[in-house]
Amino acid sequence: MDNSRKYLLNFKGCNFERTLVDMKILEKLDDFEIRDDDVFVITYPKSGTVWTQQILSLIYFEGHRNRTEKWDTLDRVPFLEYNIRNVDIENRPSPRLFASHLPYYLAPKSLKNNKAKIIYVYRNPKDVLISFFHFSNMVVKLEASNTLENFMEKFLDGKVVGSLWFDHIRGWYEHKNDFNILFMMYEDMKKDLRSSILKISSFLEKDLSEEEVDAIVRQATFENMKFIPQANYNSILSNEIGTRHNEGAFLRKGAVGDWKHHMTVEQSERFDRIFQEEMKDFPLKFIWDLNDEANSNHSAK
Ligand code: PPS
Repeated sequence: MDNSRKYLLNFKGCNFERTLVDMKILEKLDDFEIRDDDVFVITYPKSGTVWTQQILSLIYFEGHRNRTEKWDTLDRVPFLEYNIRNVDIENRPSPRLFASHLPYYLAPKSLKNNKAKIIYVYRNPKDVLISFFHFSNMVVKLEASNTLENFMEKFLDGKVVGSLWFDHIRGWYEHKNDFNILFMMYEDMKKDLRSSILKISSFLEKDLSEEEVDAIVRQATFENMKFIPQANYNSILSNEIGTRHNEGAFLRKGAVGDWKHHMTVEQSERFDRIFQEEMKDFPLKFIWDLNDEANSNHSAK
């Protein structure tokens, strides 16, 4: 049975989580006023959003870096369209940091040709699929799937939050010249977190001392984030979102290539065929396993 309408709300061709999405914000996105010093982390779900929210918060807030202030990362870098904590998303003091899963065509109109900065983080879609599958089975706000096969069907049909992965990344990439945007790859962040943080801070024109960079790197590793309550989203999961069971965590494995432990050879090959068809001529590289060098999109494996 197709149960997706119970969980998904389709707005102008894109799927959102029905009960958490802020309709008032969605309806005024076209006119949402952007400030020059706004910063957005934009992702397809399960691609490194929380990780980058944590990095942004650490870059911008000294009290976060030196642990004198204990705000949840979600409160420092709230979602634009999912106003989970009911904050006055518009009237926050500058610089406003936002997270979002919006496709390029729903982004506020004044984000175009604006100085406001966007960091778009992308991840190889087989790991996105696996992360999304586990997450959907864990939280009550998303439709659970009995089998990976069942979830893969929904993912490849775009019947998930964020709609079709292929459209999301293609849309943002093909319109990159309209925005002030930096593309970051999850797997590069995993391979060399320090260099990735330096790249992000340079894009944000933030000068950081060696010690400050050290503090950011330390607090943005998977191992440390998992045990920092403000960063690991455990309380948000149990309080605001709700879980079906107590196993699992938002920060699940944080690995590259976990798909190999879950997909059958047949599923992986089927995925590759679709990927190659959808992503032909797409210039960004993907890393499917940390033992491989960046493969071109034609060699998905
Ligand atoms: S969401 O629900 O869209 O906001 O999810 P998102 O934050 O985009 O993605 C969650 C996955 O990112 C992993 N993660 C990390 N990986 C490496 N290092 C760090 N520090 C880190 N923080 C979060 C998280 O574990 C989820 O991936 P999986 O594969 O499920 O572990």
